[in-house]
Formats: sequence, structure tokens, C-alpha cells
Amino acid sequence: MSRSAILNEVLNLNMAPKRGFYPLVLIVSLSALFIFSLHRYSSLPLPSSPPMTQFPLTNTNLNILQNPNIQTSPNFSLTIKVLTYDRLPSLTRCLRSLAAAHYDNDKVNIHIFIDHFKVLDQKDEYLDQKLNESRQILDFVDGFEWRFGQKMVHYRTGNVGLQAQWLEAWWPASDDEFAFVVEDDIELSPLYYRFLRGLIVNYYYNASNYSPWIYGASLQRPRFVPGISVAIKFVAESETIIVCNVTGKHGNKIHLDEDTQVFLYQLVGTWGQLLFPKPWKEFRLWYDIHKTKGIKPILDGMVTTGWYKKMGDKIWTPWFIKFIHSRTYFNIYTNFPHESALSVSHRDAGVNYGKTAGPDSNLLKETSQISKFSPLRNLKWYDFCFQEVSPNRIVNNVHDLDPILKSTQKSNTLILVNIHRTSKMFIKNLLCHFERLNVRNYVLVGPASDFLFDLARRGNPVINVDRFLDDFKKLKLSNVKNEVFVMAYVVKKALEMNYDTWVLDHDMIPVKPELFFDFLKLGLSVDFYVGERFGILFAKSSGSEIWTDRFVYEIAGMGGEGSFGILVGKLLEAKGVKLERVNDEGVEVKDSGSLMKNETKVVFWNSGLGLELVRNRLESFGLWIIDGECNCKAVICHSS
Ligand SMILES: *[C@@H]1O[C@H](CO)[C@@H](O)[C@H](O)[C@H]1NC(C)=O
Ligand SMILES: *[C@@H]1O[C@H](CO)[C@@H](O)[C@H](O)[C@H]1NC(C)=O
Ligand SMILES: *[C@@H]1O[C@H](CO)[C@@H](O)[C@H](O)[C@H]1NC(C)=O
Ligand SMILES: *[C@@H]1O[C@H](CO)[C@@H](O)[C@H](O)[C@H]1NC(C)=O
Ligand SMILES: *[C@@H]1O[C@H](CO)[C@@H](O)[C@H](O)[C@H]1NC(C)=O
Repeated sequence: MSRSAILNEVLNLNMAPKRGFYPLVLIVSLSALFIFSLHRYSSLPLPSSPPMTQFPLTNTNLNILQNPNIQTSPNFSLTIKVLTYDRLPSLTRCLRSLAAAHYDNDKVNIHIFIDHFKVLDQKDEYLDQKLNESRQILDFVDGFEWRFGQKMVHYRTGNVGLQAQWLEAWWPASDDEFAFVVEDDIELSPLYYRFLRGLIVNYYYNASNYSPWIYGASLQRPRFVPGISVAIKFVAESETIIVCNVTGKHGNKIHLDEDTQVFLYQLVGTWGQLLFPKPWKEFRLWYDIHKTKGIKPILDGMVTTGWYKKMGDKIWTPWFIKFIHSRTYFNIYTNFPHESALSVSHRDAGVNYGKTAGPDSNLLKETSQISKFSPLRNLKWYDFCFQEVSPNRIVNNVHDLDPILKSTQKSNTLILVNIHRTSKMFIKNLLCHFERLNVRNYVLVGPASDFLFDLARRGNPVINVDRFLDDFKKLKLSNVKNEVFVMAYVVKKALEMNYDTWVLDHDMIPVKPELFFDFLKLGLSVDFYVGERFGILFAKSSGSEIWTDRFVYEIAGMGGEGSFGILVGKLLEAKGVKLERVNDEGVEVKDSGSLMKNETKVVFWNSGLGLELVRNRLESFGLWIIDGECNCKAVICHSS
């Protein structure tokens, strides 16, 4: 063992509270995303990288990033926030790479936050040495010349750790102020700033490419998927679902085609993260509320929640991830060929390795090709499972119907859900059950509202009933129920498109996916099925001959109460059309007495019962799966 390694061991022993993380660090280091910063307790010498000036300083291929016609705001500013602790060689490499980048006459400020070492024992024989190391870091930072703007140094008086280093690094003073956060074992490409500036111009200042739901950009190579995969399997005989953890030791894989240079992904990157001002401020306020009230950032089904349970507030990412999940924000990522990136982490020597793990990606060089930024509408969006999300699928008129039904259907089946006349909480809870069951082929039918648009921008396809009806103004639909008319119309369209279609009302929860699959196994003798006790309707595409325009108006003109399925059932019977009533094995939620059974496929209730009571009963059944902010308590990734 080398002298420095021995010294390292001794230092570690003196930093007892850190020791608890080591096994965990080993586990998650495969993903190598968040934890690198815990490896800082190192005094091993590091190989220094070649000075950046060895790269040819040609700009010829970068014109696309420097279009003088494309402007930011006159108030635009970007500040680099460097977070460091006790690794002088790392910090040296990091600052040198920052100073060697192209800033093209922009004023760029740098703030360096130096955390203090922990003083656990004032008789520690290494105190002098640690003080000496701190002094060396300060001397280096003082002597470091920053020609591009102001240099500010924040030397902490005590050890605050990573969470406070990140969170307190920035409170945006305006919507034109940006922060780029780098931890000290990061090295940047000389092109990184031009890329960031181009990105801000294209995706922040260009209104036609702007989305308020983008919180920033990560320059690291994307590698990690935090959602734990489960598989739902059907055992033929008993038809029970077995949910098992199928996350391999490397987690889910990120698959991107070569043409994708920029995409959106929910996960934060900690190896070079650009932050946009508004979402960061919103996060700081959200954190403040949650932290103050003791609400923990638990999000089941995420690897990072496991980290939180072990490390608590030593890390900040579980808080940010919970916030991002609750608001459905996205981060911009790059995908360059040959495993390269504009920012790489050297994963410097950590106590668990004893030696440097080395960079996990290649740094883009001066001569690298970076193509144009694609318009936002061409970018792909991915959630924490690295499953594609399609935001803003809103049907506003008859013409929108075709493409959106087509993009939503799965195996030529479609589920229409009427979300009129219920509370937001119940709809959110229902959507979490769809996520749990891997039901993705649904369309929500509801009145125009901010809530409906918010559901759409989070990736749920919706039909805006009020706008849709504008197409039918001439038809004087005054004495029909608008929502019933639109539902009936959409079913007609779906059947014409050859989709077998379910219609559900909001006052039910599918408990098992068999609820849907069982219908598909029914005989071929009839085209329509209606639940015996609750209003599910299943229409086979072969029923499109009966479900004509005329039929649509007849449904909409019907009097009487009840769900859509019940209305349609009555009409079909009145017309002498064959239909089957299916026993759905459902459990009705009552004020007392009802119990869930193993074979229960669906739970339903009478809307007259009172939502508070229903909610309490659903909680006791374990079917209330949203948190206090109406977001799913878990992320559930289904392996396809
Ligand atoms: C720039 O900032 C100043 C001071 O806050 C403000 O008055 C001005 O409107 C801003 N300019 C733009 C273009 O946002
Ligand atoms: C502090 O560092 C200097 C070199 O920078 C060295 O000469 C000195 O011996 C060190 N002192 C201690 C106590 O380690
Ligand atoms: C899932 O399996 C992986 C690999 O075996 C393991 O690391 C992870 O902790 C498991 N997750 C859960 C929730 O059981
Ligand atoms: C803004 O973005 C749109 C869509 O990508 C693009 O057509 C337009 O040229 C951009 N405007 C500027 C000033 O770059
Ligand atoms: C319910 O299902 C679980 C899991 O399949 C099984 O272990 C249990 O015995 C079942 N209970 C009854 C009453 O059938």
C-alpha cells in the first residue's frame, strides 16, 4: 500500500459518518451519475490532463453556433458555479478547462464555492495538514486568472455538504440569468459555452421553440435510467399477475438512434448542468416548503429513493427528482457519436476504489462537428423510465381525431375515459392505476380547462369537448348532452378505424389488466358488451355498421341518467341489437361492508356516495395511490 493510500485510510477512519455510504457507492457507481461527488475524500495524486491549448483552435465548423442574427436578451447572463471541496488536482483540471473554452466576447462570471472540511475532533493530528490543503486550494483559486468576467470565491466556515453546496449556489435575480453548475472533477470541452449559449438562444429565447417545462440542459453523456423495471406476466391458469423486479444490475438501457443529437429526458445530470431561472426558483420554494414541513422526497420505484433512504440529506438529487416528477419537467440532453460529450467526469479516486475510475465518456474536441439545433417539435421526450412521452396531444376538432386515435391505440384497441363531473384527484388516481397496469391506449374526454391542458402536456391524450363541438354548431345540438355526443362520435370514428373500443366512466378503477383482456377473449357472436353492474361498454370494431351517424345522435338525444355504457345498453336493446351483459367480478365501494378479493378486477362506486367517503374506502383497499400533491406515489417502469 502506498503512503498516500495508507494516509487515505487513516483519514477515512477519522471521518466515520462517511463510512456508511461506501457499499452503496459501489452499487450505484455503475450508473455513475450522482454519487461521484461523494468520492471526494481523496488525497491520491491524479494524472493531469493535457492543457487544452494542445487542441487546434479552429472555429470554422462552429458557425452554426455563432449566428449573429440570433440574439439573447440584452440582460442575458450566465454564471458558472464551481462546487469544490478538497481535491486540488481535480479543481485545477476543471478550472483550466473552463478557462480554455471559447466565450466569444461574452461576459461570463465564475463563482467558486469551497466547502470546508469536517472538524470532528479538535485534537485530530491531521488538522494541520488539512488546513494546509485548504490553504493550497485557496492559494490556487486566488491565483487563478479569469479573463471573461468576475471571479467570486465563497469559502465556507464549516462543512455544509453537497445538498447545501448545490441549493445555495444560486437564487436567480431575473429570468435572464442562467447558472451552469460543475463539480470539481468535471472537465469541459472548449466548445461547451458556445453550445450552451446556442441552446439558450434556440430553446429559451426563440419563442417558437420555447417550453416552460424545460428546466435546463445536461452536458454529460446520458447513461442512467433511475426507474426500476417491473414485468407483468400472466400465468395462464390462474391469470394472476406477477410483478417482479427485472432491473438488471445495469438498470434500464438508453436507446437512441444516431440521428438524435438533442433530446429531452426528465433526469437531472450532475456532471455539468445548466439551470434555467424560473424552474430553479420554483424548485427552491418547493424544497423550502417540503423540507420545513418534514415531507420527505420519497418516490417509490426509483433507484434514487433507495439512495435517499440510506444517505438522507447528504445528497440533493432525490429532492430535485421528486420535484421534477411532480411537475413533469424535462432536461435537455445531447447524444454525440463515439460516446462523447461536452462535459465528462473523471470519477476521481474515491475511497472505495483506491484509484481513479477515469472518465466514462470522451470529451468533444475543438474540431468536433456539432450540427444545428432541431426545432423543439422534432425532439423526443423521455420519462424517468426512458419511455417516450408525447406531450400536447389534444383533439380540438374532427380532423385531429384521426392522428391522435392512431397514435394512442395499441393492438387496435382503445379506451375512452369520460372525465366530466368528477374531482381532479380521482382522475389523477385513475391515471396512476393506468400507469401501474401499463395501460397506455386511453384517451381522456373532458371539458376545456387548465386541468385538461395540463394532463395533455404531461403526455395524456385528451379530447377537448368544448372546442370539438364548435365543428357541430350548425347542427343545433341544444337538447343533447354535449359530452355524450362527443363520446358517441369518437366511438363511431374509432370503430370505423377498426379499433375495438372500451368506454369507461370516472367512477371506477381497474384493479387488474384482465378487466380489459377478458373482453378480448369473449365470443364473436355479439358486437357490444355492457357491464352488469357498472357502466363499462365494450364495442367491437365489427359494430361500426350499427354505430352510424344516426346512432350517434340517438345516443346524444336520450334522456335519463346513468353512465354512457348504461345509456348505450338501453338504446341497443330498444333497437333489438344483440348485446351481452358481462359479470365483471367488480366490487362496489359502499360506506361499509365491501371488501376487495384476490380476483377483484375492478372497483366502482355510485357517484352519489360522496367523494370523501369513496376516497377513504379506496385508501383502505390500497387503491389510493397518489400523494398529497395528487401525483403518483410511484414511478412504474414496464419492461416491454
Ligand atoms: C433588462 O433589465 C432592466 C432592469 O431590470 C429592465 O428594466 C429591462 O426591461 C430589461 N430588458 C429586457 C429586454 O428584458
Ligand atoms: C504545508 O505545505 C507546505 C508546502 O506547501 C509544506 O512545506 C509544509 O510542510 C506543510 N505543512 C504541513 C503541516 O503539512
Ligand atoms: C431490483 O433489482 C436490482 C438488481 O438485482 C436491485 O439492485 C434493486 O435494488 C432491486 N429493486 C427493488 C425495488 O427490489
Ligand atoms: C426560431 O425557431 C424556429 C423553429 O425552429 C425557426 O424556424 C426560426 O428560424 C428560429 N428563429 C430564429 C431567430 O432563429
Ligand atoms: C391471494 O393471492 C395471493 C398471491 O397470489 C396468494 O398468496 C393468496 O393465498 C391469495 N388469497 C386467497 C384468499 O386466495
